[in-house]
Amino acid sequence: MIPKTVEWVQLAEGPSVRMIDQTLLPNEERIIDCVTLEQVCEAIKSLRVRGAPAIGCSAAMGMAMIAGRSSAQTIDELRAELRAAHDALAATRPTAVNLFWALARMSALVDSTDDPRELRVALADEAQAITVDDLDRCRRIGKNGAEVIPEGGNVLTHCNAGALATAGHGTALGVIRGAFERHGDLHVWVDETRPLLQGARLTSWELMRDGIPCTVICDNMAGSVMKQGKVDCCVVGADRIAANGDAANKIGTYGVAVLAKHHGIPFYVAAPLSTVDYELMSGEQIPIEERDPKEVSYMAGLAERSATPAGAHIYSPAFDVTPAELIAGIITEAGIARAPYTESLAALRG
Ligand code: MRU
Repeated sequence: MIPKTVEWVQLAEGPSVRMIDQTLLPNEERIIDCVTLEQVCEAIKSLRVRGAPAIGCSAAMGMAMIAGRSSAQTIDELRAELRAAHDALAATRPTAVNLFWALARMSALVDSTDDPRELRVALADEAQAITVDDLDRCRRIGKNGAEVIPEGGNVLTHCNAGALATAGHGTALGVIRGAFERHGDLHVWVDETRPLLQGARLTSWELMRDGIPCTVICDNMAGSVMKQGKVDCCVVGADRIAANGDAANKIGTYGVAVLAKHHGIPFYVAAPLSTVDYELMSGEQIPIEERDPKEVSYMAGLAERSATPAGAHIYSPAFDVTPAELIAGIITEAGIARAPYTESLAALRG
């Protein structure tokens, strides 16, 4: 069984945002309780909780937790605390639009009542509803996407778009789980996903727990495996999809898409519609997070010593954008969007 990624828990002294610390996986399964705004923000920034939908759920629970633990007596005091919490959470990571989507849903409630007690209950209910809703969306993505995976097929995925990246089940791994439930026969190539190894550490851990055959490869092996005819399709998640179908996902995804195109392999993106940013016309407008160079030089913290000379220039974007023309389909809970995406994504939203 895979432990819950993030969970709303009522402790004796107040609510907590409980999560499995993903920075320690697969070596240690430690469950942590975040009971302050600083702890929730730190958990998101440091990737204790990560993956676009899971970040959204955690931020929503973070706002509800702040309300639940607040000693504010008046509605104005409580609203001021919630606005500050919203701003701090919104500043944690810039790329995954689910964060802003979930915060907007929570903020919409802040003025819905003048009773602080009612507001606390409404926020707790909404955070849990966002999480239940995400799990449901992932299951539907899994069912819709299962059809694109051939029986006995070899699927390549990048990063972790699994149960750990969502409220459960996963998006890309939801599709893989859906296909495995249907055919009982497939194999997954897991890109290790440098620099933080979400594929090697998290995706293989999830798949192995579910008994789904998988093999971890270094990112630079994907092309060679494709050339050998050992990949039938690629499925990845997304952090933000522009209205035209351009999709931001973990750094290295674009390279996989280009390789897939070269080898005539269909490349799919699986994501809930909460990941589509209809305000953005193209992927060029998606903000790309840049992370601490140490994540590159210190090999995901696994090595004591730096892999690069002191002072080496390092560029560490966390995400890249795959242009829509390289995407065979965007698998959502409402169906599979196909090019031209501006029309198909708008229709699914309808
Ligand atoms: O930096 P991370 O680990 O949060 O990046 C996660 C990804 O890129 C996932 O593929 C994406 O968020 C989709 S999760 C269903």
